Amino acid sequence: MIVAEGLTKDFRIAERRPGLLGSLSTLLTREYRTVHAVDGISFALRAGSKTAYIGANGAGKSTTIKMLTGIMTPTSGRCLVNGVEPYRHRRENARAIGVVFGQRSQLWWDLSVPDSFRILRRIYAIPDAVYERNLALYRELLDIDALGTTPVRQLSLGQRMRAEIAASLLHDPKVVFWDEPTIGLDMVLKEAVRELVNRANAELGTTVLLTSHDLSDIAAICDDALVVDGGRVVHEGTLTELLGRADRRSVVFDHRGGPGPLDAARGVEAGLPGATATVTPEGRIRVDYPAASLTSRQVLGFLLDRFELTDCYAPEPDLETVLRQIYRGGVPAARNGGGA
Ligand SMILES: Nc1ncnc2c1ncn2[C@@H]1O[C@H](COP(=O)(O)OP(=O)(O)OP(=O)(O)O)[C@@H](O)[C@H]1O
Ligand SMILES: [Mg+2]
Repeated sequence: MIVAEGLTKDFRIAERRPGLLGSLSTLLTREYRTVHAVDGISFALRAGSKTAYIGANGAGKSTTIKMLTGIMTPTSGRCLVNGVEPYRHRRENARAIGVVFGQRSQLWWDLSVPDSFRILRRIYAIPDAVYERNLALYRELLDIDALGTTPVRQLSLGQRMRAEIAASLLHDPKVVFWDEPTIGLDMVLKEAVRELVNRANAELGTTVLLTSHDLSDIAAICDDALVVDGGRVVHEGTLTELLGRADRRSVVFDHRGGPGPLDAARGVEAGLPGATATVTPEGRIRVDYPAASLTSRQVLGFLLDRFELTDCYAPEPDLETVLRQIYRGGVPAARNGGGA
């Protein structure tokens, strides 16, 4: 449904020298620097998939989405959305997609939300039944009527985002590109937004590409993850596989008798080189160990041998920890499928 092949976007930026004289000399000499915002990335997303597009600030996510939505033309390589090259067929592409850029409004600044919707209804020739069904949903989940007839430019960020999200789904697009769609939304609305897109996916098979720095959005919506770092893809696969790439594992346990918690923790560190042991606020002991040098069998074997365990569990590696490792270059750049 969404394919990128060696997709590249370079920006040429005029170098500025500091100070007034510097600015003047910039005008005269024009030195340029090239930023490789997207550096030859390749991936393929299935129809009906829900993928998180993950990367640190400046990783090239918004630039990629601008190319996929036809707003920008690639420097080289190409992409296909629903079988068409978006920047060559902007109109055709626009019918098939829904777009939210949290940083930039897609709505008409001087029009009210109801007026904007009426225009979108015309532009997309949305059938009455679809329009009514969707509007009813937005009334229920986004309280869209409460936005009244205020021009979009006078809405608060959260109010505008509710309108943006509704507008992106109004015509039942085949694909939605949501770039930071939940900024400014409170918890209740975040949940409503997640429900809306998950419903569209379940009922209509809508393909979803989402960027968000809110990892709970990602966990609530996406099954797949595409991680970019330095303009390149470092993970393409499921979220579960991404979590599995954590290079540290943890075990938390309770025990009866024997040494007190602090001594027990010291004993664990002494017996399991590379592991760290801490006492949790509940008085349990948490052991973190590198998966590369210790197996869970070794760790559990050691604990069973030393302590009379009364409870023991392995907390799931969390997305935040895994991503922190990837951004710091700490996790091997294993790839699952995809191109160069
Ligand atoms: N119009 C532009 N002109 C020049 N450089 C740009 C332009 N747009 C983006 N860049 C640069 O390209 C790189 C990628 O930017 P992009 O906005 O795609 O990042 P991002 O992954 O969306 O980041 P964020 O998480 O902060 O939204 C950055 O170094 C940015 O400064
Ligand atoms: Mg961005």
